[in-house]
Amino acid sequence: MNSKFKRTLVTAALPYANGPVHIGHLAGCYLPADIYVRYLRSIGHDVKFICGSDEHGVPITIKAKKEHTTPQAIVDKYHNIMGNAFKDFGISFDVYSRTSAKIHHQTASDFFKVLYDKNVFTEEVTEQYYDETAKQFLADRYIVGTCPKCANPNAYGDQCERCGSTLNATDLIDPKSTLSGSKPVLKQTKNWFLPLDKLQPKIKAYIEKHADWKSNVYGQCKSWMDSGDGLQPRAMTRDLDWGVPVPVKDADGKVLYVWFDAPIGYISATKELLPNNWEDYWKKEESRLIHFIGKDNIVFHCIIFPAMLMEHGEFILPDNVPANEFLNLEGDKISTSRNWAVWLHEYLEDFKNMQDVLRYTLCSNAPETKDNDFTWKDFQTKNNSELVAIFGNFINRTLVLTHKFYEGKVPEATTYNKEDLLVLEELAAAPAKISKAIEQFKFREAVSEWMNVARLGNKYLAETEPWKLIKTDEQRVKTIMNVALQISCNLAILAEPFLPFTSKKLFDLLNIKPLRWAAASQTSNVAHGHKINKDELLFSKVEDEQIQVQLDRLQKSKEDNLVNAGPAEFKTETTFDDFSKMDIRIATIVAAEAVPKTDKLLKLTVDTGIDTRTVVSGIAAFFKPEDIIGHKVCLLVNLAPRKIKGIESRGMILMAENAKGELSFVSPTKNDIENGSVVK
Ligand code: 2FM
Ligand code: ZN
Repeated sequence: MNSKFKRTLVTAALPYANGPVHIGHLAGCYLPADIYVRYLRSIGHDVKFICGSDEHGVPITIKAKKEHTTPQAIVDKYHNIMGNAFKDFGISFDVYSRTSAKIHHQTASDFFKVLYDKNVFTEEVTEQYYDETAKQFLADRYIVGTCPKCANPNAYGDQCERCGSTLNATDLIDPKSTLSGSKPVLKQTKNWFLPLDKLQPKIKAYIEKHADWKSNVYGQCKSWMDSGDGLQPRAMTRDLDWGVPVPVKDADGKVLYVWFDAPIGYISATKELLPNNWEDYWKKEESRLIHFIGKDNIVFHCIIFPAMLMEHGEFILPDNVPANEFLNLEGDKISTSRNWAVWLHEYLEDFKNMQDVLRYTLCSNAPETKDNDFTWKDFQTKNNSELVAIFGNFINRTLVLTHKFYEGKVPEATTYNKEDLLVLEELAAAPAKISKAIEQFKFREAVSEWMNVARLGNKYLAETEPWKLIKTDEQRVKTIMNVALQISCNLAILAEPFLPFTSKKLFDLLNIKPLRWAAASQTSNVAHGHKINKDELLFSKVEDEQIQVQLDRLQKSKEDNLVNAGPAEFKTETTFDDFSKMDIRIATIVAAEAVPKTDKLLKLTVDTGIDTRTVVSGIAAFFKPEDIIGHKVCLLVNLAPRKIKGIESRGMILMAENAKGELSFVSPTKNDIENGSVVK
């Protein structure tokens, strides 16, 4: 551990209080932060772990409107649900606060006031949409209108969800307020901006001092500063009625920008935890500040918040911001609205007391350097082939044999042979390897080094075979079993950051009070003569049927989404020239047969009016060959020929596909139109 620092404040991103917690949250920042903090506690470092709910921002007000309730009711509900989910999974915050708390409003307000009094902000008057019926300015998400790019009539003021374009509210054609339905008017409004452009040199120097940050984080920061015109001023206040009121005059109806107040939430939560000495953690150079976040939060934690802290002047700056990439689920982006997620509370209903299996899987597969995928099959393998087959098997053999041979009393190791000494040496070297990985935020590597200790134990027992040797060399078996018990104990110590529930259970089985990290470099933690408790299995197999239940649930989400799905998004603009390069003709299908050994393909013979040709088409799931003979279709005739399953296909038949993936021919309305007619 870097001895420059006396204490460490670890924060995990304050999650928005508008939905339950899923595996993406856990893998993104809460689990790595928790592992890091538990490790620091175990080595005896002074650390505090800070989190809470982020309860402001426009999406929460929109959710409240949709559910005909107040933003406060929404955040009250989710604050508790989220806090409990974290607790259930052993995320060991020292405090889980919230940004609607009084202490936070006061802290954020005071912070703003300091910057205001130091003339840090620039005041700018801009034109914003205003709803004259509801008598309020409209956040971008409160305005809908027609997208200027794709004519989607339901585009939002900041984005069109059909064509994906980023928009300004003033770009929308026929804008409407979602509050009253009336047409909004442009009205001037004053807001306070953080002049990031002017602060850029200072911010740049700060970032460049931290070239040791994870490369995904450092790279993103550099590109924000180096690309285009560099950093731009950003409004730190909003015309909205939910949030921390702007504490200066002429600011009625304005609140602090949610990304101004949220990171200050880390400070308020520390105050709540340590009313008398919170400043030790925030204002002393001997203290270290570390923010665990997901990659979408990088700019706010590496640029905007440090800029705020620098301008305030009394605070230390973040020393590291270990951001993870995203976790996908079964190959698809996790999405609350599409219910494509594994919710923590649902997981616990299906896998009772199996928090550590999820922690282990998510840690082994953490999206540390790139986006990663969670699959249920992998979850099953991690459990069955690693936790059960390696770690669980080793512990179980050790405990069972100790009871069988010695009635649960730890035998004495008399003489170590070469094999024992090698194993003990490797055991003693493990903590340093795991420490190094954790301190570098390489949690995948760390947990795999931990599993290597279990592998070491498993291999040791497999090679020494005490269950056979007991018949011929009782003395030797005593040493072997003593060594196996030392390995078990050290595994319990080293497991604590990753698998806290299992670590505790294993200490209980060994009948030993939990030991700290330093003890894991010792190989004599379990005294001979000590009586262990009755053995119990630490892990059990996850069966195929259990995995199938989860896969079925996801399949159901997929189907529900298809039923509710609208048409696919429009493609980007093309030119008339590009379109007219395609030669599409009317043609008749004159013969059709299935392509052998495939279930999707039909081999069609079509009459184009000019020639008769073969086309291979992927429509077998929807049409029987005999039903389509005689159909008139549209055929792209100048598509370069392709060999499909050994058959040369010349052209492509135009099909219409709906959101459910069902196909229909695109056919002329007049059936007697001649083959060869041009489609344009
Ligand atoms: O992305 C989010 O979920 C934000 N609520 C994170 C805020 S982190 C901090 F600044 F509070
Ligand atoms: Zn659009």
